[in-house]
Amino acid sequence: MDTTLKFFLLLLLLGLVSVLVNASTDKHDFQHCERVVKKWASSSLKQEVKEDKHTLGDLLFFLHVPRTGGRTYFHCFLKKLYSSSLECPRSYDKLRFDPRKQKCRLLVTHDDYSMMSKLPNERTSVVTILRDPVDRVFSTYEFSVEVAARFLVHPNLTSATQMAGRLRAKTNGVSTLDIWPWKYLVPWMREDLFTRRDARKLRGLNNIMHSDPYNMEEIVMPLHEYIYDPISLDIVHNGATFQVAGLTNNSYTEESHSVRYCVQKYKGLGEHVLRVAKRRLDDMLYVGLTEEHRESATMFANVVGSQVISQLRASNSSTESAADNKLEQSSSFSDSKPDNDGHQNSTSHEKASDIASTEIAEAVKGNMTVGELMDAYEVCISSLRKAQSRRRTSSLKRIAPANFTKEARHQVPETVLQQIRSLNHLDVELYKYAQDIFAKQHGRTMRNFGSIERWESFFYKSNEFTLWQVLSFGMTIFLILFVFLVFVNARRRTLKIKI
Ligand SMILES: *[C@@H]1O[C@H](CO)[C@@H](O)[C@H](O)[C@H]1NC(C)=O
Ligand SMILES: *[C@@H]1O[C@H](CO)[C@@H](O)[C@H](O)[C@H]1NC(C)=O
Ligand SMILES: *[C@@H]1O[C@H](CO)[C@@H](O)[C@H](O)[C@H]1NC(C)=O
Ligand SMILES: *[C@@H]1O[C@H](CO)[C@@H](O)[C@H](O)[C@H]1NC(C)=O
Ligand SMILES: *[C@@H]1O[C@H](CO)[C@@H](O)[C@H](O)[C@H]1NC(C)=O
Ligand SMILES: *[C@@H]1O[C@H](CO)[C@@H](O)[C@H](O)[C@H]1NC(C)=O
Repeated sequence: MDTTLKFFLLLLLLGLVSVLVNASTDKHDFQHCERVVKKWASSSLKQEVKEDKHTLGDLLFFLHVPRTGGRTYFHCFLKKLYSSSLECPRSYDKLRFDPRKQKCRLLVTHDDYSMMSKLPNERTSVVTILRDPVDRVFSTYEFSVEVAARFLVHPNLTSATQMAGRLRAKTNGVSTLDIWPWKYLVPWMREDLFTRRDARKLRGLNNIMHSDPYNMEEIVMPLHEYIYDPISLDIVHNGATFQVAGLTNNSYTEESHSVRYCVQKYKGLGEHVLRVAKRRLDDMLYVGLTEEHRESATMFANVVGSQVISQLRASNSSTESAADNKLEQSSSFSDSKPDNDGHQNSTSHEKASDIASTEIAEAVKGNMTVGELMDAYEVCISSLRKAQSRRRTSSLKRIAPANFTKEARHQVPETVLQQIRSLNHLDVELYKYAQDIFAKQHGRTMRNFGSIERWESFFYKSNEFTLWQVLSFGMTIFLILFVFLVFVNARRRTLKIKI
């Protein structure tokens, strides 16, 4: 009896001690983390002293946050401006950036801001585009599934993966599967799609009756599951903030990984990351918004495009000849093409380099006005969009009746949207901040470029603006008439009094 009691007390004591020790190591860990994060934040904030952030530096770094529409800027603006010899090698590549090629002027990549550690900091201008976090998560989910679904032509996962590998080796190009974060998201979805298809076959499930494509577990991982998977937690949520801060799990610096670990473990430390990310946006040459597409594109042409044009024109006299550019273009175009999933065969590659060589002819001259750039952009974007939507349709056919449409998004329950917002709390804040920057930038651009006829003609095309102009014209006439009548009346009265 006595001994049992003693034993029991001893156990209790031991338990207490272990709890205390645990608590203190936890506390210790938190303190350690706080130190690590704060140190990183203050050194990051110190680095950022740009003398003239509005002037394009020697190198343009397009920090491409996935699913923000950056691809259209790359293909329809930057590819039209920069010849391929000016593009940094293998941007968008699994092999990452090779700083040996010093001459390059353009870097477009999903790599994060830590890339700056490899670049001439003070001579580099950074641009980026941000998107509403909920839409970005939707789009990430849909694109992961879309690319993965292309593999469903194969009878089984083994043959799908083998085939993809073989095709990649043959074309020697870079596929979506090589690019972060798709190199994780696509294989994950691909495996999942095959598993679900096999399960359906096994159970003899043929006609699935569901109306919500975001929740069809017989076919594809439902959205509400996707957002809580460790992979999404690791690389999807708060993706924009982490990328701008240089803290993705694809980061270049060792330090980033420990900071990242701490921030993921202690949510409160996120505020430091947010502060750094905001400051970086402040220092960028340009920040676009996916939602404000027209305005963003026009601003890009005027702020970035016009400076690239004058820069290239100025340096034209001393640089390489057109023939060189052309050669290099045809060999490297497929390498930098980001959206090739390995299923495209040589036919599409040939087409791509055809387009590329006509593009290059214009670009090399450095002889292009902002207006011409805008025109070229509009033609380019409409064909790019058509191609994208064709691919999407043909790919989603393989998971029918699941079909991701705008209407279907409205059916997603509010609770799921709330969860996405909460999982992306840093991105929600950063996006608001980007909206402020965008508004300021817009004001500044209008002041500087307001007289350029390009802005006007661009807006004339949209109906709201014509309506607005008609209204304001009407108001002006009305005001003039009103003032006139008041004046005449007053005159009449004074005349009467005189008589
Ligand atoms: C997968 O499909 C290929 C091609 O039809 C076939 O040769 C192979 O045996 C299949 N593998 C499995 C594990 O079913
Ligand atoms: C990045 O995240 C993915 C998905 O969670 C993971 O598979 C990969 O190993 C991570 N990479 C690094 C360098 O931590
Ligand atoms: C530079 O531009 C001029 C006209 O703008 C053009 O005639 C010339 O060929 C260009 N030089 C090079 C090397 O591209
Ligand atoms: C390219 O793909 C199409 C359809 O996927 C196929 O019919 C054609 O034979 C392929 N061409 C080559 C050269 O592999
Ligand atoms: C620019 O290109 C136009 C044709 O697009 C040509 O007429 C003009 O001479 C070129 N100007 C220069 C300076 O090369
Ligand atoms: C999915 O919806 C789009 C737009 O409503 C439509 O064009 C497409 O044909 C649909 N795809 C399938 C497989 O039903």
